[in-house]
Amino acid sequence: MLKINNLHAEIKEEGIEILKGINLEIKPGEVHAIMGPNGAGKSTLSAVIAGKDDYEVTQGDIQFEGNSILEDAPEDRAHKGIFMSFQYPVEIPGVTVTNFIKAALNETRKAHGLEDLPAKELLALVRENSEKLSIRKDFLGRSLNDGFSGGEKKRNEIFQMLMLNPKLAILDETDSGLDIDALRIVADGVNSFKNEGNAVLLITHYQRLLDYIKPDFVHVLADGKIIKTGDKSLALELEEKGYDWLLN
Ligand SMILES: Nc1ncnc2c1ncn2[C@@H]1O[C@H](COP(=O)(O)OP(=O)(O)O)[C@@H](O)[C@H]1O
Ligand SMILES: [Mg+2]
Repeated sequence: MLKINNLHAEIKEEGIEILKGINLEIKPGEVHAIMGPNGAGKSTLSAVIAGKDDYEVTQGDIQFEGNSILEDAPEDRAHKGIFMSFQYPVEIPGVTVTNFIKAALNETRKAHGLEDLPAKELLALVRENSEKLSIRKDFLGRSLNDGFSGGEKKRNEIFQMLMLNPKLAILDETDSGLDIDALRIVADGVNSFKNEGNAVLLITHYQRLLDYIKPDFVHVLADGKIIKTGDKSLALELEEKGYDWLLN
């Protein structure tokens, strides 16, 4: 599904190389976790996959379903089925949770030459997915991110993922501020999202999250490179020993 080959990327304005030769292959049905010290380039990697234009790819390629996506705008990548959560969601006063997701869904349908989702189907989909995440009805009518607590932001983000039903979901978890409730929301969401046809790339600092979401692969990213790959036991080892034993 996703194939990253010798990816080098730098910050546009400054010309500082952050990603220094990343290789990663994600197949349908797989969950990959990326862990690593602060400043390693984890968020940069997710931003480069999503196509954020603060970064420039200087070498290598990112292929999605067999084709390079490097020339695709972020919205084209989204329409192809790549979803990325945002560490710092924007507030959009006056746009409700439901209207926002409705617009995003119909945007994608339009890109595929489809009509807007009929109201009845939208409603059924909203109901199905909000039940999965125990989202109450009044939440759906609130302005997007306006006064949301950390847990509510998480819930909204995971709700968006379930609604858009991407092929590849990239979740970049902040290094602080995920309490146990938020961990559960993310875990429940990912577990109900996951099937044989889709994939998840989970970027996290929290070994604990991996108690609830079972990754098929765990990668350690340090100084812009994947320096170790293992199964979920690697996450346990990291929790015990930290990252220092892997760095030289
Ligand atoms: N837009 C940016 N402008 C300046 N520096 C950046 C930018 N994005 C990332 N960096 C720098 O790149 C390095 C990697 O950052 P990041 O990808 O956020 O690491 P991680 O998510 O692993 O903690 C850090 O040194 C960070 O300061
Ligand atoms: Mg980060």
